[in-house]
Amino acid sequence: MFKENTLENETILITGGGSGLGLSMAHKFAELGADIAICGRTEKKLEKAAEDLRKHETNVRWYIADVRDYEAVGEMFGRLIDEFGSLTGLVNNAAGNFLSTSEDLSPGGFKAVVDIVLYGSFNCTHHFGNYLINNNKKGNILNIVTTYAEDTGSAFVLPSACGKAGVLAMTRSLAFEWAEYNIRVNAIAPGPFPTEGAWTRLFPAKKFEKKFIEKIPAGRYGEHEELANLAAFLMSDMAPYITGECVTIDGGEKLSAGQFNFIDGLMSRKKLKAAFKLMKLKK
Ligand code: HXC
Repeated sequence: MFKENTLENETILITGGGSGLGLSMAHKFAELGADIAICGRTEKKLEKAAEDLRKHETNVRWYIADVRDYEAVGEMFGRLIDEFGSLTGLVNNAAGNFLSTSEDLSPGGFKAVVDIVLYGSFNCTHHFGNYLINNNKKGNILNIVTTYAEDTGSAFVLPSACGKAGVLAMTRSLAFEWAEYNIRVNAIAPGPFPTEGAWTRLFPAKKFEKKFIEKIPAGRYGEHEELANLAAFLMSDMAPYITGECVTIDGGEKLSAGQFNFIDGLMSRKKLKAAFKLMKLKK
């Protein structure tokens, strides 16, 4: 899909890049020539991820940082920019989530997720934006949100829904405000892309998974490669005029709210056609 050097002059930080979708994006960016920084809380995970990423033969470094800690994030940006010489892109991918009835949430549980998702994205974006603006450099920010960040919210994941909605608002607010500085800010809203982190927390039983797949019109989960390709496109010079956009990639799952969509699940398509034919009014 891309030329091998599509991201050749880029240095990109992916928060939570030690595993899951963050790591898949890191692999794609490195494959396309970008230098890669990943950060997270677990040294072992980051070390192993960086080792794997080095097969693409670009510069790869990892940093221990909890995105909730503004000062620690600032120190990381300082070190990172010293070590790489520059930073051109940021992917706010680090997230937290768990299933809970909202009446049973503790304030600490709500805060933990909103801190990671919303404050974490703000902390990184604020440091990165200031670095770009103060040094008169152009740059790219990509926020990973969810399909329930807009319109619907979602039951049982209230802190995540609130945090991600905030990140989406931040995406659009900054896209306008920072366009003047040549900084693009976009978002991707992924539907279901299996990762260990999300799946162990959000799909405790096979029964959940089966129900979930049933509501995806494409009839399957997303492949990491599909999301990584979209991220690479948005982070590249192939999309210089796209900013403030949130691209949904979910096999049509978000559309399941369509008023008559439920009919699809009632009977086979053949039976449906026959039923509709019978219903057709004769003149
Ligand atoms: C209720 C919970 C809980 C649970 C933690 N808490 N897990 N409450 N149900 N399952 C509460 C704790 O009681 C505590 O509240 C507070 O949350 C903080 O918990 P800690 O374990 O001390 O926090 P911490 O170690 O910082 O962990 C943060 C975390 C954790 C968010 C709770 O799950 C985490 O680190 N997650 C990161 C990875 C992750 O979640 N990945 C999935 C993202 S998927 P009190 O009140 O006792 O202090 C995603 C995509 C969505 O976002 C779309 C999918 C289709």
